Amino acid sequence: MNSESKQLIAGLKLYLTYLKGLGITELPLSKKQGQISYEPELSDGTEVIAESTSLDQTQVSLLANQTLEEIRKELGDCQRCKLFKTRRSLVFGEGNEKAKLMIIGEGPGFDEDLQGRPFVGKAGQLLTKILQSIGLQRETVYITNVIKCRPPQNRNPQPDEIETCYPFLLKQIGAIEPKVICALGTFAAQTLLRTDAKITSLRGKVYPLSGIQIFPTYHPAYLLRNPDRKREVWEDMKRIAKALADNRS
Ligand code: URA
Repeated sequence: MNSESKQLIAGLKLYLTYLKGLGITELPLSKKQGQISYEPELSDGTEVIAESTSLDQTQVSLLANQTLEEIRKELGDCQRCKLFKTRRSLVFGEGNEKAKLMIIGEGPGFDEDLQGRPFVGKAGQLLTKILQSIGLQRETVYITNVIKCRPPQNRNPQPDEIETCYPFLLKQIGAIEPKVICALGTFAAQTLLRTDAKITSLRGKVYPLSGIQIFPTYHPAYLLRNPDRKREVWEDMKRIAKALADNRS
């Protein structure tokens, strides 16, 4: 059994335990007896990964009772982890509160820390262009990061920093209730999907989480260093555009 299958089974076990805790002891079967019902592929051929346990409906709807303004207020002058000591700004996120598409990056860099806004440096300019490539203006989506404060010297976010910020990210997702989330890079993808799998194996697929479709793809900062990967991001963006079009009501 490969590590992805093992992870899937571990996730499924957790989910079943969780459901049992909620008093659910039976699961519906699909038309084909004995198979759990989920579409293995989107109509464009994108592989759909079985419902994950990370962000289920209950979690998101329970968290949907706060507005972005209230969540920002609750964060306040956050000192919940060590990053407050070195940050200039807490970069909460910005964009359309009713966005169908939410973009989640890793964490603020130098420019973001300076300006207090997400994705405003070189990677951010590339992100703006990538969004435009599928006909989206930056203002129409909501952009935030897994962690809200810049790590010193732009080092990787540490597990305690990610876990401290995670409830606030979930609340933001709950407030916006996007149809689609684009997880940019390893940290966003791994945090949302609760996995250690590499971004190379996560991207190119869709992970449905109770009404939200999560599409991991490469981080624009990675693309700046590896422009030959742009093609794959373009493929992912086309999938996102299609998911958004399918969700237009
Ligand atoms: N990289 C990120 O992940 N987020 C930003 O806001 C900027 C750069």
